Amino acid sequence: MELPLLLLLLLPIIAHSLTQEGLYLQQAKQTLEDPYGSLSNWNPRDQTPCNWSGITCTTNSVTSVDLTDMNLSGPFPSILCRLPNLTRISLSSNYINSSLSDTSLSGCDSLRNLDLSLNSLIGPLPKSLSSLPSLRYVDFSGNNFTGEIPDSYGLFPKIETLSLLNNLLNHTISPVLGNLSTLKVLNLSYNPFSPGPIPPSIGNLTNLERLWLSRCNLVGSIPPEIGNLKRLINLDVSNNGLTGSIPDSMRGLESVVQIELFNNSLGGTLPTGMGKLAKLRRFDASMNRLVGGIPEDLCGLPLESLNLYTNNLEGPIPEAIAESPNLYELKLFENRLTGKIPSKLGKVSPLVTLDLSVNQLSGELPPEICGGGSLQELLLIQNSLSGPLPEGLGRCRTLTRVRLVHNSFSGSVPDGVWGLPQSSP
Ligand SMILES: *[C@@H]1O[C@H](CO)[C@@H](O)[C@H](O)[C@H]1NC(C)=O
Ligand SMILES: *[C@@H]1O[C@H](CO)[C@@H](O)[C@H](O)[C@H]1NC(C)=O
Ligand SMILES: *[C@@H]1O[C@H](CO)[C@@H](O)[C@H](O)[C@H]1NC(C)=O
Ligand SMILES: *[C@@H]1O[C@H](CO)[C@@H](O)[C@H](O)[C@H]1NC(C)=O
Ligand SMILES: *[C@@H]1O[C@H](CO)[C@@H](O)[C@H](O)[C@H]1NC(C)=O
Ligand SMILES: *[C@@H]1O[C@H](CO)[C@@H](O)[C@H](O)[C@H]1NC(C)=O
Ligand SMILES: *[C@@H]1O[C@H](CO)[C@@H](O)[C@H](O)[C@H]1NC(C)=O
Ligand SMILES: *[C@@H]1O[C@H](CO)[C@@H](O)[C@H](O)[C@H]1NC(C)=O
Ligand SMILES: *[C@@H]1O[C@H](CO)[C@@H](O)[C@H](O)[C@H]1NC(C)=O
Ligand SMILES: *[C@@H]1O[C@H](CO)[C@@H](O)[C@H](O)[C@H]1NC(C)=O
Repeated sequence: MELPLLLLLLLPIIAHSLTQEGLYLQQAKQTLEDPYGSLSNWNPRDQTPCNWSGITCTTNSVTSVDLTDMNLSGPFPSILCRLPNLTRISLSSNYINSSLSDTSLSGCDSLRNLDLSLNSLIGPLPKSLSSLPSLRYVDFSGNNFTGEIPDSYGLFPKIETLSLLNNLLNHTISPVLGNLSTLKVLNLSYNPFSPGPIPPSIGNLTNLERLWLSRCNLVGSIPPEIGNLKRLINLDVSNNGLTGSIPDSMRGLESVVQIELFNNSLGGTLPTGMGKLAKLRRFDASMNRLVGGIPEDLCGLPLESLNLYTNNLEGPIPEAIAESPNLYELKLFENRLTGKIPSKLGKVSPLVTLDLSVNQLSGELPPEICGGGSLQELLLIQNSLSGPLPEGLGRCRTLTRVRLVHNSFSGSVPDGVWGLPQSSP
């Protein structure tokens, strides 16, 4: 490496023209491998760095360094923290491959946004990150950080987004996160955490809007404190080992739009009072051990998607579900549902996927099952359905997949149905 030496010799001359901030950036460039020349216009003979790729200035002082997706590799360039007015660093989608030492971000006192997602960072999370006074947004997703979420992470003064998705964090989810009253987005999904509970202290995050804990090795029951999250829009605790029943307090999630509980070991009945969740559009509690009926009031909401497949649910499918003007997906297969398919299903809803297979449903198919003209999948195998198939099915141009075997349908099959690529009686 002769370049740093050369730079050192030229330093007095260059310093004459290029600002100190520009010199810091030149030093950062020296530590990065740049095989595609993404930083080739970082010309040391310029007066300021303000025209360089990825650099944004306010009144000639650097405020943002955005080197997203430039195929850069090498260690994290800590020298960026010498830029006094730097509010944003993004090195997302590169090959930054060092660890982040506790001092690697010291000095970044103006920093609000730090996006190091999709790199090759390794080692523990830097403990002192939480002492940066202005930090609001941290995205470390898609790296190889290991170990714990440090206790110091309960002390971020202004944090709004913390995303550690898709790393190799392998301790349990720390209850100190419940201290972050400014937090709006917490994304810890896809980490090989040691088996542990959802900390009840999460219920203290009263500003939380999105909570993603899919594939976090969670065990134990869903803490009732979750119901305190009045601003929560999106809850995903899918693909874990949660047990116990779904707490009734869930009806307190008054802002919630999406709830994902699938692929756990949740038992008991679905909570009562879910009809209060006026904004709920997507609910998925499939692949659990739920018993009892499908609540009427849940089906009275203008849902887009209701998935409760592979449980032990019984009783009828509430007629109210057919009134949703948004319903495109209804998957209730592998339960013990009885009674008729709601007679108006398909009439007002833009149904795309209907899978009621492997239940004990009887009676006829709703006449307007393809009423909205959008139905693609109609899967009803292994029920006790009977009567003729609706005439309209043959004219349902959107259908790509129909499976009706192991029922007691009578009469002829409407023209056109069995011509479909993935269909069989
Ligand atoms: C930035 O580039 C533009 C054109 O590419 C040029 O006109 C302007 O003088 C440059 N500004 C600085 C500060 O170098
Ligand atoms: C990054 O590298 C890939 C090939 O590895 C190349 O296709 C792409 O254009 C490069 N991106 C940039 C910004 O140079
Ligand atoms: C990081 O990447 C650089 C450039 O590809 C390589 O030379 C270096 O050995 C890597 N460092 C580590 C710790 O893997
Ligand atoms: C940049 O930071 C310096 C040192 O803290 C400060 O004096 C200056 O006012 C800042 N400039 C801008 C544009 O914020
Ligand atoms: C990150 O971890 C994955 C999975 O263990 C491994 O395949 C990959 O090589 C690791 N990458 C780095 C840069 O350590
Ligand atoms: C976490 O992973 C690190 C690095 O692979 C390993 O040394 C440590 O023993 C693991 N800790 C736990 C609790 O599994
Ligand atoms: C929680 O935050 C308060 C105030 O910021 C602080 O005093 C306390 O030490 C924090 N507790 C934990 C466990 O981080
Ligand atoms: C997780 O975090 C990322 C930001 O790192 C965000 O873009 C994404 O939507 C989040 N949710 C999921 C389910 O990946
Ligand atoms: C946070 O939650 C825990 C457990 O639910 C509770 O004991 C504690 O008092 C709460 N702390 C604050 C500051 O609200
Ligand atoms: C269910 O979640 C477990 C992790 O808890 C995962 O290993 C498994 O692949 C998931 N099953 C499905 C069908 O996604």
